[in-house]
Amino acid sequence: MNSIAILDFGSQYAQIIARRPREAQVYCELFPWDAPRENILSIRPKGFILSGGPKSVYETNAPFIQPFILDTGLPILGICYGMQALAHALGGQVDASAQREYGPAEIQPLMPGTMLDAISKVWMSHGDRITRLPEGFTALARSGNSPCAAMGDMKRKYFGVQFHPEVHHTPNGSLLLRHFVIDICGAKADWTPASIIDDAVARIRNQVGDQRVLAAVSGGVDSSVAAALVHKAVGDQLVCMFVDTGLLRANEAEQVASAFRRGLGMELIAVQAGGEFFSALKGVTEPEQKRRIVGEKFIHIFEAQAKQLGRPKFLVQGTIYPDVVESSAPERDKTEKIKTHHNVGGLPQDMPFELVEPLRYLFKDEVRLVGEALGLSEELVWRQPFPGPGLTVRCLGEVTRERVERLRAADKILLEELSGAGYLGKGAQTSQAFMVLLPVRSVGVMGDQRTYQEAAAIRAVTTEDFMTADWARLPHDLLARVSNRIVNEVNGINRVVYDLTSKPPGTIEWE
Ligand code: XMP
Repeated sequence: MNSIAILDFGSQYAQIIARRPREAQVYCELFPWDAPRENILSIRPKGFILSGGPKSVYETNAPFIQPFILDTGLPILGICYGMQALAHALGGQVDASAQREYGPAEIQPLMPGTMLDAISKVWMSHGDRITRLPEGFTALARSGNSPCAAMGDMKRKYFGVQFHPEVHHTPNGSLLLRHFVIDICGAKADWTPASIIDDAVARIRNQVGDQRVLAAVSGGVDSSVAAALVHKAVGDQLVCMFVDTGLLRANEAEQVASAFRRGLGMELIAVQAGGEFFSALKGVTEPEQKRRIVGEKFIHIFEAQAKQLGRPKFLVQGTIYPDVVESSAPERDKTEKIKTHHNVGGLPQDMPFELVEPLRYLFKDEVRLVGEALGLSEELVWRQPFPGPGLTVRCLGEVTRERVERLRAADKILLEELSGAGYLGKGAQTSQAFMVLLPVRSVGVMGDQRTYQEAAAIRAVTTEDFMTADWARLPHDLLARVSNRIVNEVNGINRVVYDLTSKPPGTIEWE
């Protein structure tokens, strides 16, 4: 294999580091710093990148470089804490500096002719610094606060940088990482959507043999691409199931059915279950209770269908790499559970299926590239994230068929206007946009008539990772068009407001 192992010392940027070799078409995997030797070496790495981390190398229980890493004789690049851990392991000296260096800084190369020539502005985030280099190392750059902002041992191909080349605030930082991976480690750039597909197809065939496979598709990118990959591998051994909960956006159910049946020629069982969901939600207004009800109903329907199909042995899941990494990452600040998100609309862990997870090692945008290479429609591949509990969490107050239809009609207008103006879809700035129906009535006037109807909010955000988000600065004219059309065309809504809350302190969804 042609890969790079990234050891995570507790960095908030670990996943961003993992993006960079992959952008250079070199496969890499993240491992906790203390992962077992056989796991790390199983990918047969050509080199190691050590991430940053919150600790100090002299602290008790500070993460360290496991000796077998050095024994491999492979190139190493340490970033921030990773550099300090490397210096510490090889006999250098690391000390707390009087001043923390945080944020933008400038470095000056000390040895011409290295990759650092391309870098001057960098992003720093450290308290400790290296005060004596280990034997064999030369200082390659310095900054105002670090006499040794970069170091290298050309013979052993060991390098360290005090700054963060992985973040966008370090212009050309990704070139440095690419140089390390391709030129120093000698990894080949052969990890492309086509090679990912070939590899996944071979693995799936190997795993499932001639057995039947079931996939629950939601219309979301991950479950669609996972199902399409499995279909490519085992064709008609795959059965796809789609539960129409009655809680989807306008036209979504039809689009999914047509994308799978017509677009990909796959078998798709569509279960119409709207009635069941609306009965179960009757009278319920509390957000967590809504989520629970939708989650339980979904599992119930899924199980009944699986039984009817004679319980295939295998089940496809669209688990993607960030989910895998998050569950095995070293101790970070545990974020409190704010919403019961990711177990809603999904299936429980303990179902009697063997899982097929072809996207387990892919980031979201890699999933999209694979989806495009498999011939999935742009509409499906670039669809916005949609919560498992569907429109229930965007229909504040009681979820009735009538109110969901009202919300859906308003939402359709918003999407039409934003897509038409280029504010949504592939490459657009707005990452997610939707309408929220409020359980609040206000007075209005239409023609000569007094109205007393519900209000609806436009929610549109820009975000990289959906962990933090800002409200989208949409043009006023566009907002005016959306508002006018909704009030004129949708029965039951006479007022539209725009949500100006970032995340935090808000969340993207309203419930
Ligand atoms: P919040 O509201 O927490 O949402 O800022 C962050 C992202 O997650 C999506 N979301 C969900 N996704 N099941 C999901 O699969 C859920 O229950 C769920 N709730 C929110 C939300 O749309 C946003 O993209």
